[in-house]
Amino acid sequence: MSDEIIKKIPSHVGIIMDGNGRWATMRGKKRTFGHGAGSKNVDRIVTYAFSKGVKVLSLYAFSSENWSRPKEEVDELMRLLRLYFTKFIKKVVKNKVRLVVMGDLSALDNDLRKIIEEDMEKSKIYTERVLNVGINYGGRAEIVRAVNRLIEKGEKVTEQSISQNLYTADFGEPDLIIRTGGEIRLSNFMLYQGAYSELYFTPTLWPDFDEAEFDKAIESFAERNRRYGGI
Ligand code: FPP
Repeated sequence: MSDEIIKKIPSHVGIIMDGNGRWATMRGKKRTFGHGAGSKNVDRIVTYAFSKGVKVLSLYAFSSENWSRPKEEVDELMRLLRLYFTKFIKKVVKNKVRLVVMGDLSALDNDLRKIIEEDMEKSKIYTERVLNVGINYGGRAEIVRAVNRLIEKGEKVTEQSISQNLYTADFGEPDLIIRTGGEIRLSNFMLYQGAYSELYFTPTLWPDFDEAEFDKAIESFAERNRRYGGI
C-alpha cells in the first residue's frame, strides 16, 4: 500500500465475509472446513487493517438468518467464535483493541455469551481501535431495537437519536463496506449506518481475501469522491 493511499485509509471499514462454504466445496471438503479457514483469515485481516491505520473494523460473523443452516454448521461457527473470543480475552491488554459485539446475544449459549461479555467489559477502556463483530445480528432488527429503546425512554425519534441507540453509537458509520464472495447485496448488514458508505464487491472468497486483496479495496476507496448528496 503506497504512502498516498495510507493517507486516505478509511477510518471505519465493514466487511461481509462471504464464500467460506464455496471455498471448501471447491476443494472437495465439508463447508465447516471453509469456516475454519475463514476464521484464520479473520486474524490475518484484523491484524493487517489495524496495522494500516483502520480505527474501527466491523465484521459480519453470524446473521440472525444463519440459524437456519444445518446444525453441524451452526455448531462449528459457534465453536470458532468461542475459540476466537477466548483468545481475544487473553490478548486484550497486549492488543489494546476494544471489542463490541452487535446483535442479540440472548440466543447464544450461556458460556459463549459470558466470554463475549467479559471481553467487552475488559476492553472497554481502549478507545483507539474497535473490533465490532455482528453475531445474531440483523440491520432491520437493530433499527427496531433503537426505536423501541427511544419509546421506552420517552425520547423523541430523530435521525440522530436513532444513531445514538444503535450498537455502533460510540463509533459511528463505516466509510467503506466490503463484501467478498461475489454477491452484490448488503444482506441486512449495517443498514442504517451504511446510508453513505462506499461499497466494494469482490468475487474473491473470504478465505482467499488476503492483504493484497484488502489493499485493492482500499485503493478503490481512495479513488472515490464522497459527496454525501452534495456536488
Ligand atoms: C459466509 O460464508 C460466512 C459466514 C456465514 C460466517 C462467517 C464466519 C467466519 C469467517 C468465521 C468465524 C468468525 C469469527 C469472527 C472468528 P458462507 O458459508 O455463506 O459461504 P457460501 O456463500 O460459499 O456458502
